[in-house]
Amino acid sequence: MEKTKPGLLIVFEGIDGTGKTTQAKLLKFKLEGLGLQVELFKEPTDQTIEGQKLRASYSSGRVSLEQELDWFMRDRAWNVRERVLPALKRGAIVLLDRYFFSTACYQGARKNNDWKSILALNRREFPEPDLTIIFDLEPAIALQRIYSQRKKSNTFEGLEYLSQVRALFLEIYHTDNIGKYLLLNANKGIYELASELFKAVLPLLEKRGMVGTNQQ
Ligand code: TYD
Repeated sequence: MEKTKPGLLIVFEGIDGTGKTTQAKLLKFKLEGLGLQVELFKEPTDQTIEGQKLRASYSSGRVSLEQELDWFMRDRAWNVRERVLPALKRGAIVLLDRYFFSTACYQGARKNNDWKSILALNRREFPEPDLTIIFDLEPAIALQRIYSQRKKSNTFEGLEYLSQVRALFLEIYHTDNIGKYLLLNANKGIYELASELFKAVLPLLEKRGMVGTNQQ
């Protein structure tokens, strides 16, 4: 699929419990305050049959790797076609809470850590983000946060599994030379992290002429 300018696609990635959803919401609020058009979407969606089946598998138990891969890809195809590309065409800034890097790491961890072929497969079909932010956190801390918020983790959230997923995110960050990445240490306060994130995104907006220089 072709990515059509003039919008901006910014992806939020990392293991569960890093706070990326909260940060995506805060960034949306901040950017809207600057008068920018912002859309926030999440994968897997709750809009497709596949997305709904995936969400159900969080509590009922995981399906096979092949089934998961197929469902995430189908759900993504809908999300990109129906929501992401139209918003980018309108010139909006699209903040996407999880994208194909999650597939590469979460499903890659079930496939002998083969994130490369999953990433390549996705790149043949879906647009490359302008920036991918990887929120990095010790899995033990991430799980503590999850438990303190909702007492119960889902079937994707075992310590060993998340450690492997985290390692793959870091491997992508260090070795993939196609994507543009920003690695953030998520082990800090919400507002400190939000401000760090905003400062990192600002140059991109300036480069695109979306904001003037010297924004706070
Ligand atoms: P998450 O953003 O944590 O959803 P919620 O906040 O609603 O709980 O994502 C759900 C889970 O799906 C998460 O554990 C990661 C997993 N996932 C994959 O395994 N592959 C993918 O391609 C995507 C997008 C998510």
